[in-house]
Amino acid sequence: MGGKHTKSARRAPRSLGKGRYTLSEKLGTGGIATVWRAQDSVLGLERALKLLDDEAARSPVFRSRFLTEARVMARLEHPNILRVHDYGHENGRFFLVMELLDEGSVADLLRATRPLPIGKALRITFDVLKAITAVHASGTVHRDVKPGNILIGGDGGARLSDFGIVRIPNQKLLHQTGTGDAMGTIGYMAPEQRSDARLVTPRADLFGVGATLFAMVTRRHPSVLEAIDKRPEYLAEIPKPVARIIRKATRPNPDERYRDAKAMALNVVRAYDELVEHEGGPCAERWMEDLDRALDRTVAHLAAASTRPPPPPRHRTPTADPPPQRRPLPVPWVWSRTSTVQMLTIVFGITSTLIAFVVIIILFLR
Ligand SMILES: Nc1ncnc2c1ncn2[C@@H]1O[C@H](COP(=O)(O)OP(=O)(O)O)[C@@H](O)[C@H]1O
Ligand SMILES: [Mg+2]
Repeated sequence: MGGKHTKSARRAPRSLGKGRYTLSEKLGTGGIATVWRAQDSVLGLERALKLLDDEAARSPVFRSRFLTEARVMARLEHPNILRVHDYGHENGRFFLVMELLDEGSVADLLRATRPLPIGKALRITFDVLKAITAVHASGTVHRDVKPGNILIGGDGGARLSDFGIVRIPNQKLLHQTGTGDAMGTIGYMAPEQRSDARLVTPRADLFGVGATLFAMVTRRHPSVLEAIDKRPEYLAEIPKPVARIIRKATRPNPDERYRDAKAMALNVVRAYDELVEHEGGPCAERWMEDLDRALDRTVAHLAAASTRPPPPPRHRTPTADPPPQRRPLPVPWVWSRTSTVQMLTIVFGITSTLIAFVVIIILFLR
């Protein structure tokens, strides 16, 4: 997540989820959360557990964003998006359980080694764009694409993670930072996102991918890209096809960037074919087909998730027929139309008229 938040003093618990997850080693720290290696005692597996910092856990805005992060990731079934397995809270601590990726993040790779080889950097970039295609197809914008949020799987493939400041249409709460922090990370954040995080379009994520590619192949901080028109020498050391991709993806004007993630992915795999020695012929067709297949599966999964009937209510609702209603007793037609008081008035009127009539006749006959 983008903003820094003061860490609270409370020590991390030994376990969470009513003893299900035992925390061991700290894997990483972000803006408002810490990620731990955890043993899942029920399934007998190791997981990564992201624990919201105490101070953030007291803020409804951060709590809501954390739950949204879990929900968005859980819905996005995709080979290049980190999988979420569980979410919970206990004693005011909020946590998210994810698949564990032991190789760490691209930021860890860059700390440990020299710039990444071009082939590896392009492969990671393609995987991230594959994931981004699916994120955008779901109507969301990630807004925090950067080396620390890209994890490497055991299979060598990259997984996009940290959907903490994701933008979902019509969700006002997510637009508030609650603290006035910048939403995103300097250098990786598109200029339009810096001026108003609410107005970003999917093309803001393409800026993040281009800046990440720059960091991977140079190990420089991408903030230098701001002045790239005046100082093009920063791109001089990079092979031309890769420099062109970085340049186009990180244009200050979003309209000058790639049309979408798929268009950028095609350029990335073409650069890979041009620059990297590999067996089995050109990769472009195969990789793009793979991107489309993964996208189709994600879209189908999203559609199924939104048409699935809502879960049954916790308490069984009565399903028996309602008790039979008592049938009203049959009443003469006039009764059914008139109230009792009106009826008595009519009867009284008729009777008194009759009596008066009889009395008059008797008097007359005498
Ligand atoms: N599933 C995971 N497996 C292994 N390490 C992880 C995992 N998720 C996160 N990390 C590590 O923790 C760091 C912070 O995680 P992240 O989700 O980005 O948190 P934040 O939202 O606080 O930035 C990452 O940069 C990475 O080093
Ligand atoms: Mg992060």
